[in-house]
Amino acid sequence: MSRAECKGIGVIGLGYVGLTTAVGLGLKGHRMVGIDTDTEKVESVNRGVSPIIEQGLSEALRKVQLRATCDYEELAGCDLTFICVGTRSYLDGAMNMDYLLESVRRLTGVLRQNGNEHLVVIRCTVAPGTTEEVIVPLLSEVSARVCLVPEFFREGMALYDFENPSRIVIGEMNGGDGDDLAALFGDFDCPIVRTDLKTAEVIKCASNAFLASRVSLINELGNICKLMGVDVYDVARGMGYDPRIGHKFLNAGIGFGGSCLPKDLRGLIATARAAGYEPRIFQEVSDLNEEQPLRLIRLLERHVSIEGKTIGVLGLAFKPGTDDVRGTRAVEVVEALLEKRAHVIAHDPQAMPEFSRLFPRIEYGSAQEALNSDAVLILTEWPEFEELDYTGRIVIDGRNIRKAREARVYEGICW
Ligand code: UGA
Repeated sequence: MSRAECKGIGVIGLGYVGLTTAVGLGLKGHRMVGIDTDTEKVESVNRGVSPIIEQGLSEALRKVQLRATCDYEELAGCDLTFICVGTRSYLDGAMNMDYLLESVRRLTGVLRQNGNEHLVVIRCTVAPGTTEEVIVPLLSEVSARVCLVPEFFREGMALYDFENPSRIVIGEMNGGDGDDLAALFGDFDCPIVRTDLKTAEVIKCASNAFLASRVSLINELGNICKLMGVDVYDVARGMGYDPRIGHKFLNAGIGFGGSCLPKDLRGLIATARAAGYEPRIFQEVSDLNEEQPLRLIRLLERHVSIEGKTIGVLGLAFKPGTDDVRGTRAVEVVEALLEKRAHVIAHDPQAMPEFSRLFPRIEYGSAQEALNSDAVLILTEWPEFEELDYTGRIVIDGRNIRKAREARVYEGICW
């Protein structure tokens, strides 16, 4: 679809997926309308300030034609709309689709009034079958085609990943429904995979479940290497030159977090169970990930009796480059430290405000204050942690900070 043919593109949900999609397409010259229920977020976008920490997003935001609003009526002037709202997960792993259903209902209301042909593109991660069984019927009374285009953005690198996609997957109900999307994404230098809706849904959660498995696999290997006195990072380096294995996503540590890998893994497990299949490997991947952070505590106990001691925690975000603490392994570690009656001083370059909502009562301080404790745990591989002076300290490292190996006592979780 060329710019001239496209009146405007709507994006519902201005989180890191929606805002990146809006800005990325805006950079290609499209007129964008962004919808969010959060007025602060809307105002921030309209001021040209990204409400989330994402590399390059604020600068790009100021170059594009994007109007943010809480008013769904403004979608009436668009001919396609991406739905990018969050799908949280229930405790049993099933996805909670309240936001998605609400946004589809409100969009349907707008389309019912204007009667125009519209292309609705689901961009959020949903359980396989959802688009065809739940979303398509909701839109049946209006003139809408429905496609699903999953995103594969890494948080913190979302705009880069938008502009340099590994592939574009277009799930479509009927052949031809996705033609406009194939044209819209046609100038990206990557393969376009066109499938039915359910297959596209599975591609998304399977990709994340596979990545999660890769992390648990290298962590398990690391746990074994540790017992043999071998450094799993050296092993991974030697393995990764095999093109069938590759070097990426082989960083052993305290496990995977974030809002996507754990949720999509749980979602796939729940989907498999609902279909009558017990997913053994994925369940183990998940169990291992739950246990991994506690290994750090056991290693700490080899050197320090925790009760009454001050323990420094370096890193709270689920990965560097973000203030996001969803699914961060730091939660399990801090909980275990508090249970064992430690005094915790935590530091993170970005995530202290977010983490303090979960743990308001622990102490937060500078990296140096965290270092000045009886022992230090490293939970996120922020580059600035490579600049600290660890000499004389007791350090238990969950993320392979090379400089920390200079500590008086140093233990890596898998090395
Ligand atoms: C992940 C996927 O990488 C994206 O492709 C996907 O689009 C996104 O989820 C999503 O579904 O929206 P993200 O959650 O931003 O992206 O984070 P990753 O960079 O994948 O890292 C996930 C977790 O795995 C982090 O806690 C990270 O520390 C951990 N990890 C990653 C390791 O422990 N070792 C590794 O080698 C790689």
